Amino acid sequence: MKFYNREKEVRFLKTYCQLEPNSILFVYGPKSSGKSTVMLRVIKELENSNIVFFYYDLRRYATPTKEEFLSIFFEKSDKKYILNKFEFDLKVFKFGIGKNYDINNKSLNDIFNKIYDGIEEVIKEGKRPVLIIDELQKLKNIYFNGGKSLLNELFNLFVHLTKVRHLCHVICLTSDTLFIEEIYQSSTLENASKYYLIDWLSKEDIKKILKEEGFLKDEIDYCINYLSLPYEISDLIENKKLGLSVEETIRQWINIEKDKLQYLIANIPDEINENKIIEILGKFKNNIKVKNEEIIKKELINEFKFLVNNEILFYDVVNGIIKPTSIKKWYAIKELLKLK
Ligand SMILES: Nc1ncnc2c1ncn2[C@@H]1O[C@H](COP(=O)(O)OP(=O)(O)OP(=O)(O)O)[C@@H](O)[C@H]1O
Ligand SMILES: [Mg+2]
Repeated sequence: MKFYNREKEVRFLKTYCQLEPNSILFVYGPKSSGKSTVMLRVIKELENSNIVFFYYDLRRYATPTKEEFLSIFFEKSDKKYILNKFEFDLKVFKFGIGKNYDINNKSLNDIFNKIYDGIEEVIKEGKRPVLIIDELQKLKNIYFNGGKSLLNELFNLFVHLTKVRHLCHVICLTSDTLFIEEIYQSSTLENASKYYLIDWLSKEDIKKILKEEGFLKDEIDYCINYLSLPYEISDLIENKKLGLSVEETIRQWINIEKDKLQYLIANIPDEINENKIIEILGKFKNNIKVKNEEIIKKELINEFKFLVNNEILFYDVVNGIIKPTSIKKWYAIKELLKLK
């Protein structure tokens, strides 16, 4: 797969990994903006540095139970950390636990000590540990003995590793922006977390990529108004090879998005009010971005969350902005509004 320009984002994250750890970093952005791809690129580009990446992509797994969480994060080994052989094209590591260690009967503190041991071992060897968790929100509903929430306890550990002891970077990626909101409001993470937005591609970058890919000026001028996400460019290129014009591809995209929206609205759950959904979407009739205070009101909150959870809207809590998850989605919303 080709990797399209994300120079600024790659540079930021590479530099970040090499600074002294001081806070937890949350990487967020609209659905499919390329967060995971950028992170993997950073790991690849730092492959031969002295950084040891502990990388967990929870998207790969069904929502884990406690036991599954343990088997994802740890591997039986005499070493305190070991290469993750399941990530065959990436040099990333897992935490090790002794061969006879019965992890399922341990307390959270025992388990956290194992994470700590792995991290200390990396440092002892003169290297720098970086812990990355993609789709961290999937650990939300795991509880340990005594009803302790794994995620809350993990956050305490992460604050300790970063802000308190400066031992290890912790980078969490998520496509769930309501989860980012919860984190943003959380007192445990106050003054202990940073946020980094990986947003839509910029118009200049899209233009440059399309030019390099051999699109004609007229084609570029047409599609520049509709593109925002990296995979859309790949789709356009593939469809062109298959004989579809850019106009046809974009028409298809908008039709699909509009159908999905209509279907969603036709199957709305009882507790969601359709008129309120239309009221919210109506704010995007002439604007691609809306300030959060225009939508986040008590009477619209359920409908707003419904649209965010269904990946129609992206809520950028840090900048106080709400927008459709992509530009093509914006056009679909506008077409749907005309029918209402
Ligand atoms: N810079 C890029 N160059 C080429 N393709 C890209 C780039 N970034 C993302 N993609 C492609 O776009 C799609 C979505 O990317 P990715 O999964 O990284 O996004 P994401 O923001 O992590 O999505 P999600 O919100 O679902 O977690 C993938 O097919 C990926 O290969
Ligand atoms: Mg992702």
